[in-house]
Amino acid sequence: MADKEYTDPERMEKIVSLCKRRGFIYQSAELYGGLNGCWDYGPLGVEVKRNLKEFWWRRNVQEREDIVGLDGSILTHQSVLTASGHVGGFSDPMCDCLLSKARLRADKIEPQSGTAYHYTGAKESEWSVTRDFAVLLREGENKNRARKTARQFYAQFHPNKSLSSKALELIGESTTEEKNTTRYNPENGSLLTEAREFNLMFKTQVGASSSEEDPNAVAYLRPETAQSIFTQFKNVLDTSRQKVPFGIAQIGKAFRNEINPRNFTFRSREFEQMEIEYFCRPEDGLRLTDEWLEDRLTFYNDIGLPREKLHVLDVPDGERAHYSKKTYDIEFDFPFGCQELEGVAYRTDYDLSKHQEHSGRPLEYFDEATKEKFIPHVVEPSAGCDRTVLALLCEAFGEEEVTDAKGKSEVRTVMRLHPRMAPIKAAIFPLLKKNEEQVRISREIQRSLERFMNVFYDQTGAVGRRYRRQDEVGTPFCITVDFETLGEETPDLKDTVTLRHRDSMEQERIAISDLLPRLLEEIR
Ligand code: GAP
Repeated sequence: MADKEYTDPERMEKIVSLCKRRGFIYQSAELYGGLNGCWDYGPLGVEVKRNLKEFWWRRNVQEREDIVGLDGSILTHQSVLTASGHVGGFSDPMCDCLLSKARLRADKIEPQSGTAYHYTGAKESEWSVTRDFAVLLREGENKNRARKTARQFYAQFHPNKSLSSKALELIGESTTEEKNTTRYNPENGSLLTEAREFNLMFKTQVGASSSEEDPNAVAYLRPETAQSIFTQFKNVLDTSRQKVPFGIAQIGKAFRNEINPRNFTFRSREFEQMEIEYFCRPEDGLRLTDEWLEDRLTFYNDIGLPREKLHVLDVPDGERAHYSKKTYDIEFDFPFGCQELEGVAYRTDYDLSKHQEHSGRPLEYFDEATKEKFIPHVVEPSAGCDRTVLALLCEAFGEEEVTDAKGKSEVRTVMRLHPRMAPIKAAIFPLLKKNEEQVRISREIQRSLERFMNVFYDQTGAVGRRYRRQDEVGTPFCITVDFETLGEETPDLKDTVTLRHRDSMEQERIAISDLLPRLLEEIR
């Protein structure tokens, strides 16, 4: 059983650094200091992301008769999100440190105990300020620390910004004993503001006559892709000739003004989701939730995330979203701990009922077979695309000691991405760039493959170095055109090439005409 608490910050640092160095993921607006919580996928990252989305779509839409797709708008009518409960309730409790102004999640503050030093104000010659402040000292801490912190707090209000805080005299010192309080900043002991609800949605104005007061001019960037699926349920049902049970799938961007974006792309403010709302009869909801869980675990295994690194959390009562009767979180062992990759939730008929109630339009389903009318229940497998890409990169990263052709040992960095997910499927090299025939054949192979997959031509440097460069970006196959290909020494080997395997580093001889079917079999 894996240790769910295990973390490896050094490994994570190496992954982040490789992602930037080789063009997988960059900080958004890095040129201007970076936009926190936003990321840009580089030439290789975008390929991994596309591979993932295309495979998810193929598995869940193309290969299933009971699921159809949707691509809803990102800008969302505020009535949709009022009905869903996001306008009133999609929030986190936040508080601010009175001293440093740092913003903290109130429900994530560790309870502390100690002596609180309270003050009512401070003065300096003619100047004074009246304002309550307090500092929490843990057992054994010197009270001068509380006084120093309080002076720093009051100095903010003094008109002379260069005045030393030591010049201030504190007013009204008193103490209280505190047990398990969350009212103080664990970093510096300063009092925090009262917690306030902070809505995580990005609000925006629509149209030229935008006005804060005009309800039709307000829209939100969607916080989940799910809502457009619910609001289009009836249209899809009427136009696709589906019958319950059936699903609607969507891949797209979602936006949340996360308080603490962290762990690289794991918690971002702009991210992509891959969601299915699977509509069913009420009595099938719980069974289908279990079935979807298994289906999703198989999916992760098929893209290269091993089962032993995936954990299923049966979210207990009281911790599930208000709409859910059952939720499984699928978690993965990231280098920063075991964290959620996907939620499989039984949302009951909550969403369709709410939209029916708020819109006044019927969203019931008529079952021809039983002649019953009912609001379908929903099972929702909701995966994070960026989180899955991150899991793939974390799982793939490896460093190993190898011996080069001259017997010297070196560290090989290798991204062992599943061939389905690898950004470049095959690299094609002429052994010698000066050999015109080798170059011509290599280019021909490149052209024959590139209609079917992403390939890369490279003729610079020693072949060993070219292999290393491809290992580092996860290319599963390297094809080398050499003298044997030309049939100059061994006529039997004419029109064959070497196919080198990234993980084992083994090489085999293969006919050029067999390359395409062989590679297609490996990457599909
Ligand atoms: N429609 C249900 C829903 O949105 P969720 O658990 O809030 O449920 C589903 O989100 C998935 O979306 C998560 O399991 C995660 O993979 C991804 N996700 C959510 N918030 C994210 C964020 N801030 N950054 C990256 N991915 C996120």
